Amino acid sequence: MSVTFALLLLLSQATSDPCYHPGGRPRFCLPPVTQLAGVAASCPQACTLSTGAEGSRATCNGSVTLALGGSFLLASVSLRFCTPGPPALVLSAAWATGGPWRSLWRRPTWPGALGGPEKVTFRAPAGSKASVVASHLRVEFGGRAGLAAAGVRGRCQCHGHAARCAARARPPRCRCRHHTTGPGCESCRPSHRDWPWRPATPWHPHPCLPCSCNQHARRCRFNSELFRLSGGRSGGVCERCRHHTAGRHCHYCQPGFWRDPGQPITSRKACRACQCHPIGATGGTCNQTSGQCSCKIGVTGLTCSRCGPGYQQSRSPRMPCQR
Ligand SMILES: *[C@@H]1O[C@H](CO)[C@@H](O)[C@H](O)[C@H]1NC(C)=O
Ligand SMILES: *[C@@H]1O[C@H](CO)[C@@H](O)[C@H](O)[C@H]1NC(C)=O
Repeated sequence: MSVTFALLLLLSQATSDPCYHPGGRPRFCLPPVTQLAGVAASCPQACTLSTGAEGSRATCNGSVTLALGGSFLLASVSLRFCTPGPPALVLSAAWATGGPWRSLWRRPTWPGALGGPEKVTFRAPAGSKASVVASHLRVEFGGRAGLAAAGVRGRCQCHGHAARCAARARPPRCRCRHHTTGPGCESCRPSHRDWPWRPATPWHPHPCLPCSCNQHARRCRFNSELFRLSGGRSGGVCERCRHHTAGRHCHYCQPGFWRDPGQPITSRKACRACQCHPIGATGGTCNQTSGQCSCKIGVTGLTCSRCGPGYQQSRSPRMPCQR
């Protein structure tokens, strides 16, 4: 009995999705913290940097910049020095190449010492409000320092919409949920653009919502003006309606087609061709609800294929039915 129970528990854990409540409601989720790969040094003062345990001994003069290979939520930065640590340290982060740089941590000069400890670790403050997004890190020394290794830990920036991520891909790719898409889940999938994209928070998952296109379109676009006019309810506009439908929700028929009342609007056969008679009708379009073509004088019938009472068929295409 207990074996079965344990198996069931294992199974439920394996199949449960951290981005959804067991009942299916979406919820805020984060990918795990991992060692960030691809840390490379570029130090104009000929400093080589290794992320391995036994790094090459190098001397950095002034500063060292680390490119993380993508945008990450920073968890911690550890620096290990092969010489006694520098007298002062400033750690800064930038979320794009070339800055702007934002100072994260400032370590004043160790009083009376030749250098600081051999290993220093900066930890990002907990809580989503204080999250640090960085693609580049810069360490400034108050002098020369021999840096042996730098360990940077963090998680992919998935905006609360993914619990898994290929952190080593370039760019890092989140396994997006909540109908979001993009390397960092930074937009809504083409079929789910009825609401504006928003990052998920622990208080609101802000999933992307589907457009109502009556199963005639796979894509829609978000229109902020329509969203505003709807009072914040719906802003999606269906694109490329199929099955001869048209309109914002693919909810009526194209000209030349009429709405078959015997079919639901979601049916592929919801819109039928008018079939107006080429001689009896004035054109190819018909009434959208009744299918009635517009007939020439004296002509009658849904498709304008007969002469009305008191009229006789003639050879004239202009006046096919005459008195
Ligand atoms: C270190 O940098 C300073 C200022 O940029 C420079 O004056 C000095 O010569 C440099 N030292 C070495 C060993 O490169
Ligand atoms: C189309 O037909 C319906 C029902 O017969 C009618 O009420 C409506 O006025 C017609 N529309 C046009 C544009 O003629």
